[in-house]
Formats: sequence, structure tokens, C-alpha cells
Amino acid sequence: MNENIMEKIVSLCKRRGFIFPGSEIYGGLAGTYDYGPVGSHLKQNVRDQWRYTMTHMHDNIVEVDASILMERKVWDASGHTSAGFTDPLQECKKCHKRWRADHLTEEGKTKCPECGGALTETKRFNLLVKTHLGPVEDDSTLTYLRGETTQGIYVNFASVVETMRMRIPFGIAQVGKAFRNEITPGHFTYRMREFEQMEMQFFVHHSEADKWFVYWRQERMKWYVDLGINPDHLRFRPHEKSELAHYAKAAEDIEYLFPFGWHEIEGIHNRGDWDLSRHSQFSGQDLSYQDEKTGEKFIPYIIETSAGADRATLAFIIDAYEEVEGGRTTTTKSVKEIETVLRFDRRLAPIKVAVLPLSKKDALIALAQDVAQMLRKNWIIQYDEAGSIGRRYRRQDEIGTPYCVTVDFESLEDKKVTVRDRDTMKQERVVVAELKQYLQEKFSL
Ligand code: GAP
Repeated sequence: MNENIMEKIVSLCKRRGFIFPGSEIYGGLAGTYDYGPVGSHLKQNVRDQWRYTMTHMHDNIVEVDASILMERKVWDASGHTSAGFTDPLQECKKCHKRWRADHLTEEGKTKCPECGGALTETKRFNLLVKTHLGPVEDDSTLTYLRGETTQGIYVNFASVVETMRMRIPFGIAQVGKAFRNEITPGHFTYRMREFEQMEMQFFVHHSEADKWFVYWRQERMKWYVDLGINPDHLRFRPHEKSELAHYAKAAEDIEYLFPFGWHEIEGIHNRGDWDLSRHSQFSGQDLSYQDEKTGEKFIPYIIETSAGADRATLAFIIDAYEEVEGGRTTTTKSVKEIETVLRFDRRLAPIKVAVLPLSKKDALIALAQDVAQMLRKNWIIQYDEAGSIGRRYRRQDEIGTPYCVTVDFESLEDKKVTVRDRDTMKQERVVVAELKQYLQEKFSL
């Protein structure tokens, strides 16, 4: 894996409808990307799998969907408006390019890495994205786009406890957009200014915080491995005391081996009682919790699992990416070429089944469309009649479609179709009337 692979992945993502640069027809907007039709399905599957594991499978974890816009005081209480949520910034005096001081090499700390100009002293730069609500743009209407989904959970803590009768230990999960004015967005969707988080806050008695921290860090690692990421490409990285976020008592990252190095895809944090205490103080509402059995009243500790939907999606794409030298489809003319296949776990694959009529003859197209319509009720289907069959298989391999169903002239006679398996390349003739059940069994394996 190297930077070259990253270029190929970015190009594949664009070419095959996974991810496009944001506002591309206007030259792009730095730090933003748009998911195309195929990428939207993939990211939705990543969210769905996260929800399945984190809420659906847990009796004591519920989900909320809070506003992106929140009362400005939330960000004072959370510590985001102060030094805790800043990055060190240096600006080039000559070309005015801005750099994150902690990303510069020792040598680069005095000179601009691009034009060699002198750099300013380091300033702290706040990452919150500002906006104004209402028709007047002054300090009274200033607020922020949320910098993390977390805070939307805390402001609803008391309502969730009350309405859902939650008893400690329990969790509140949320999936949604977050915004950060990153100084140097980069590495494709790895560091963006608008991104999506999948977060879960687990509320516990302080005496059990360490135990739950260990539990959740294991669970979260398992999630990536279970969905197909090679365990050799994943590792834990505990935070040094000096790099702990302002709220954290302990923190560990799950890192993935990207082509550009080991980098964080998820953080597991012991946030102590920082957040609920601060919100109690700033809002004037008592956010303590009373244990029904013991009568003890306390501010719960919080163990947070904070994953990035975009970083996870990118890691799943990179890990699924495989180049096959000399080609894998013998039906293609260009067998000497490298062919690409994305070996997604079937639960993540954006398109589950492709239906491909062998030719554009009316009778074949009619049968193929019937087959596609039948399968559409269960799965996301792509119907494709454009180009040679070899080229169509390659297109499906490049987006990681687990099964291709080909309708040929014999199908008109024997009412059977050919099912091709993405990974084994095995082809099987299956009776159309049994196709749904056949695929159901395959997908449940
Ligand atoms: N609530 C805790 C929190 O937000 P974080 O480590 O700042 O912690 C958690 O962020 C996760 O959010 C990261 O592990 C990453 O997956 C994702 N994330 C953070 N900043 C991001 C960015 N600029 N672009 C894409 N994803 C980002």
C-alpha cells in the first residue's frame, strides 16, 4: 500500500459513483465531498451496521436524532469555545497559506513548506464553524454548527432517562453530521470540514468506568474486524496524558493503516463526569441521576465510542480494494490488464445483485427486467445492458457487487439464469423461480 494506491482509490471512487469532490462544477470546496449513488448506499450500509451492532442488539442503548444547531451556551459548557477545541496555526507571511503547526516537520516550523516564506508565530485557531440565526448578524445571533454529535446527547440526557425509564448502565447513540473548520483538510475524506459521526455515550457509575472502557474498546475493535477489515491493518493507540482532549480522563484511538500511514478512525474516551457536570452548571438544570435501589444520587461517568462514518467508509473501501494482475475475467479482451475488485463484506456491498442481459434482444431484455424487478423487492439491484458482458462484470467487480445474474438465450428456453460469484468467480445455473431463495441463502451465509 502506498500513496499511489490512494490516487487509484480516489479515481475509482469518482469514476464509479462512490465519492465526488464537493461543489465540483464550481472548482470544488476544500474539505467537502459528496457521496454519489453507489457511495450513498455504501455509507448507508456502514451506518446501518453500526446501528445494528450498537442499538438494535442492545436492550439498554437507545438512539436520538438531535439538531445540528444548538443553543450557543452548549459549546461554552462543553469547552469547545475555549482553548480545548483549537488547533495550532501558523501562516506564511509571503503566500498566506495556513498550516497546522503540529503537522509541520521541525524544519518546516520556521519556513513555509510550499514557498519557503517565513511563518508567523503559532496562534490557537478555534475549529467551531460559526453561523448566525435570524435576520441580524451580530454577536447576539451567533451560534455554531455542532463540532461533535456528542453534545446533542447530553442536552437530552434527562429527557431520555425519564421518557425511556433508562437505568444505569445504559447508552444513548446518535449518527449525524458534525462540522469543524479544519486548518488543513486532506487525505480525501479522511479530514473534512463537514463529516459524519456515529457516537454512543454509555452512562455508568464511576466505580465501573474502567471496566466499561475496556469492554467498549474491545467491542468497537471487533466491529471493524467482523465487517471484513484485516486485523493486521488495525491497532489501538492509547493517548499520552499530554494529548488527552479537555474532557477526557482516558482515551484510546482505533487506528487503521491507510496508504498514508496509521491514523485514527475511532476514539474511545472516558469522559468522566465533565460533560454532565458542566451542563448542570451552565443550564441550571440538575443532571444528576438517582439510583432507585441504593438511593445514591450522582453525576454518571461517560464512556464514549466515537466513530467517523466517513473514515470508516474509507477504511472499508481501502481494505476491500484488490488489484488482480493479468485480469480475472477471461471474457474480456484486455486479459493482460490489471483488474480491480472491491471485496466488500456482503452486508456492506452497495449493490447486492447486478442483472445483466447477454444481448439487447427484446426477449432477453424483457426477461432480465422481470428478474431485476423480482429481486428489487429484497435488495439494491443494478440493471445493466450497456457494453460487452466482460466489461459489465468488471464494472460490478469495481463496485464490489457480490452477485451478477446473467440472462442469456438459453434462459428463454430453460428459464434458468447464470449467477456469478464475485469472489470465487464460480458460475451456477439457477432456475428463475428459485433465484430469490438461492440468493437469500447466499446472503445469509
Ligand atoms: N465526541 C468525541 C469526538 O468528537 P474526535 O476524536 O474529535 O472525538 C471522533 O472525533 C471521530 O470523528 C474521529 O475518530 C473521526 O473518525 C471522526 N472525525 C473527526 N474529525 C474529522 C474530520 N475532520 N473529518 C472526518 N472525520 C472526522
